[in-house]
Amino acid sequence: MRFTDEFIEEVRSRNDIVDVISGYVQLSHKGTSYKGLCPFHSEKTPSFSVHKGRQMYHCFGCGKSGDVFNFIMEYERDTFSESVEALARRAGMEIPKSAYGTEDPEKKSRITELREIHKEAALYYYYALYSKSGAHALTYLRSRGLPDEVIKSFGLGYSDRTGTGLYKHLKGKGYTDAQLKETGLFTFDRDRVHDRFWNRVIFPIMDQNRRVIGFGGRVMGDGLPKYLNSPETLLFDKSRNLYGLYAAKSSRKEKMIICEGYMDVIALHSKGFTNAVASLGTALTSAQSSLIRRYAKEAILLYDSDEAGIKAARRAIPILKSSGVIPKVASLAPYKDPDEFLKAESPAELEKRLDNALNGFLFETDQMKKEYDTSDPQGMADFCNGIVRKLMELPDEIERSSYLDSMSRRYSIEKELLKKQLGKSAMSFRTLRSETEAQNPMPKKESVPVDLRRERQLLSCMSRKKEFTQLAAVYITEYDFTDEKNREIFNALKQQAEDDRFDPVTILNRFEDSQDKSDTAAIFEGGKIPGDDEEQETALKEILIAVKTQTYERALKSTAASTPEEIQRLLEEKRKLEELRALITGGNI
Ligand code: UTP
Ligand code: MN
Repeated sequence: MRFTDEFIEEVRSRNDIVDVISGYVQLSHKGTSYKGLCPFHSEKTPSFSVHKGRQMYHCFGCGKSGDVFNFIMEYERDTFSESVEALARRAGMEIPKSAYGTEDPEKKSRITELREIHKEAALYYYYALYSKSGAHALTYLRSRGLPDEVIKSFGLGYSDRTGTGLYKHLKGKGYTDAQLKETGLFTFDRDRVHDRFWNRVIFPIMDQNRRVIGFGGRVMGDGLPKYLNSPETLLFDKSRNLYGLYAAKSSRKEKMIICEGYMDVIALHSKGFTNAVASLGTALTSAQSSLIRRYAKEAILLYDSDEAGIKAARRAIPILKSSGVIPKVASLAPYKDPDEFLKAESPAELEKRLDNALNGFLFETDQMKKEYDTSDPQGMADFCNGIVRKLMELPDEIERSSYLDSMSRRYSIEKELLKKQLGKSAMSFRTLRSETEAQNPMPKKESVPVDLRRERQLLSCMSRKKEFTQLAAVYITEYDFTDEKNREIFNALKQQAEDDRFDPVTILNRFEDSQDKSDTAAIFEGGKIPGDDEEQETALKEILIAVKTQTYERALKSTAASTPEEIQRLLEEKRKLEELRALITGGNI
């Protein structure tokens, strides 16, 4: 963990959850809680509530819940550490220097070295481009229409013909073979070391903070492979970076443009489309999509107009959607890619294409239509069924009905017919929903096995009150929990009650993983038992019995109860169970 618990708690206490969330969601006061429209799923009536006393939020619609850190993580797509930092800044707190240390100092120093070497290499390539040996590379870049200031701002370079220039240069700077090996910029043969890039123009790949993390190199002409790229290293994870993001993120535009290649990004930026990024020839990943979500609500896919580009756009749509980005698709036809388009047409013309980008849904149905022969009645019927299937996937009824209208108009299909078909398909709606949910791990209310559900209910009850935890701890031990996380929560609650500093929300800090955090928050916030103290206590006792019965039955089933110890344990469980049952008919805490 990067921050100490004390620091995290200090940040929490200086960021009231109602204040923080009010900055994002319009909240209105209702009793002890505040209500508003959930920012994590689309809804028309408020089911998102923020509890001031508990400093937590919960959405009764999509089930998302958590503390102030979860909210920032979820909304800003931050990591936990980033959310702590952001909230510390919000409260005007100084972020302690020590907080920047990673857990592994050895790894950290390797990363620092790799950064230095990459920076050094980028400079080497850059100077080579403007040296005598790089003259033909500079000519090549200029022939592709790049003015010097663009070449400079993207830090383009040239890897010379010697094949060992960079290696010698870096060795001269004192780096060891082991260090250089780790950069992936060289091939180590038995007796010789070669530069990975040889006689290519070089495109440095930078992370969001403008630090060089890898390179791409293009042949000048028609050689193969056209581009070579850095392999994955400690610095470079292709699936988590976007080319040009460091510049696009500060373009302050509401939309991001996603294209395929190095040259596309450069051409777009140099013509004023400074919000363009590229996924560099790979299919868009959800990590990249989450990065985009941090800076923009909407993304326009501007992929090549060939079949591969169309396919890539179709694949990217659900990925963008599931990280909360609104996907659109713009067409470049008859030109091949953005670079080519901008050579032939004006930026204003491209602006028009972007304005006319199809929303993801219509793009998908348009593409689907091409798969059917709609002049044939059977083909048309199949196409209609396809549309109905897509309509069913829309979670929001209003959205569904508005798309139904536009489908009917767009493809001249009788509206009533679509409606009727939609109604028929409602029967199989459930299966469809569970299929799509399996594909998109969106907020889901998964079916939890009954044992686990009872464990969670118990924890949820315990978290209401110190006294409840104390009572539970008399009968329950960590061995009554089958789930590791539940066990940890139980132990933490128990400890807090013993130390007389009962504050369940702080238990969330124990979990680094955001899923774990939000699961835990859901346990504390969800499954609330209505009623006054006395009714809640009765409920607690019932759940205690249920959990204890589970343990007893598991013990009965799993062991043959052959050893004296096992028999002893079984009898002990049985005794506790009976004691609990007696408790429920009388006695108080
Ligand atoms: P393209 O072949 O469309 O390249 O591949 P491009 O950007 O239009 O290149 P130019 O205009 O001919 O110079 C798109 C992206 O796919 C990756 C690169 O990131 C490229 O920019 N790619 C392509 C490779 O990594 N290796 C290859 O051999 C080809
Ligand atoms: Mn291209």
